[in-house]
Amino acid sequence: MRTLIVGVGALGGLVAARLLAAGSPVWLATRNTESAARLKASGLRVTGAGGAVSVEAPEVAPVDEYLTGETFDLIVLATKAHDAIEVAPKLSPLLRRGGTLLPIQNGGVPQTLAERLGNDCVLGGLSNFGATMITPGVYEQRNAGYLLIGEFAGGESERTEHVCRWLGGAVETRVTPNLRGAIWSKLLLNCSVTTIGAIAGRTMREYIASPDGRELFQRTYDEALSVALASGARPERMIVDPVPPTWSGRSVPGEAHDVWLDQILKGYGDLKASMLQDFERGRTTEIDFINGYIVDLGRQLGVRTPVNAAIVETVHAITRRESAPDPVLLRQILHATR
Ligand SMILES: NC(=O)c1ccc[n+]([C@@H]2O[C@H](COP(=O)([O-])OP(=O)(O)OC[C@H]3O[C@@H](n4cnc5c(N)ncnc54)[C@H](OP(=O)(O)O)[C@@H]3O)[C@@H](O)[C@H]2O)c1
Repeated sequence: MRTLIVGVGALGGLVAARLLAAGSPVWLATRNTESAARLKASGLRVTGAGGAVSVEAPEVAPVDEYLTGETFDLIVLATKAHDAIEVAPKLSPLLRRGGTLLPIQNGGVPQTLAERLGNDCVLGGLSNFGATMITPGVYEQRNAGYLLIGEFAGGESERTEHVCRWLGGAVETRVTPNLRGAIWSKLLLNCSVTTIGAIAGRTMREYIASPDGRELFQRTYDEALSVALASGARPERMIVDPVPPTWSGRSVPGEAHDVWLDQILKGYGDLKASMLQDFERGRTTEIDFINGYIVDLGRQLGVRTPVNAAIVETVHAITRRESAPDPVLLRQILHATR
């Protein structure tokens, strides 16, 4: 299966290195000529979970160089969200007849691309890997992890099995018949656990200890879950049942809810939000495709999402350096949306 990996950062670099180490025919696309030259010189190296591999990267070029060349059976799109939305329309003509574009961004990107480019060409993907790029060409795999793929229309298909077998020769890959539900389960936690942690500049365990943090978590999660259910998705159990106990359109505080929260804390309570790293490095965040996706979809479905909208505004203000991560922002969001 001729495969092109677009975006050789933390996740794309990990997948590319493991595919190349397995002897697969893989081409790599970077944003520009300088990145391509650097990777060609350095090759790719992965350490950490899954074992160390070190490979050369003979076929690497800036993405625009591929636009007039040969076609591919599979294109794995592993850029950040905003870049994926921008570059994806250029990539679909690079697919061979019956070929597949596999976006693996968090949040609303895969669904948005499937709506724009068609379910025939876009397969949904989700990454459960924790990957870090130490320097270009050098990556760390931080957990056992796996890729989850599936049809947006739901159910099983020959092509998911085919792509799963192909990628599975290098990285663990699973198929789900309920990809939309799986994407929502991750999004529900990203938009609450991760985004609120980034805004507060704290871990979830730290911010949830304050009444403001706890209330903001609940209201953010409740809005997102209401949108998910209104869209017809059936979020799957991930670390917890996606629908909190005694939920009736909103979370009901109490002992059962505390037990449910404790399970989330066990899994995610002490992690540093990747969005906080984006703030620290002055990088564009993926907020428009996380909480922003919930706001947009809520608008289309007639579900109110004022808390998520205020969160999006707050993150943009931090990115513009008009504000900085601080727990006091959680109270400001609550006050603005009561
Ligand atoms: N890392 C993880 O553990 C992980 C886990 C789950 C999900 N994800 C999701 O996976 C996606 C990628 O994350 P990441 O951590 O791998 O990000 P990353 O380290 O920033 O890698 C993205 C790479 O894409 C490149 N790129 C940007 N625009 C491009 C273009 N037009 N053509 C070719 N390459 C381009 C970037 O190059 P420049 O450096 O030049 O911009 C960068 O090397 C995100 O949506 C993230 O949410 C990541």
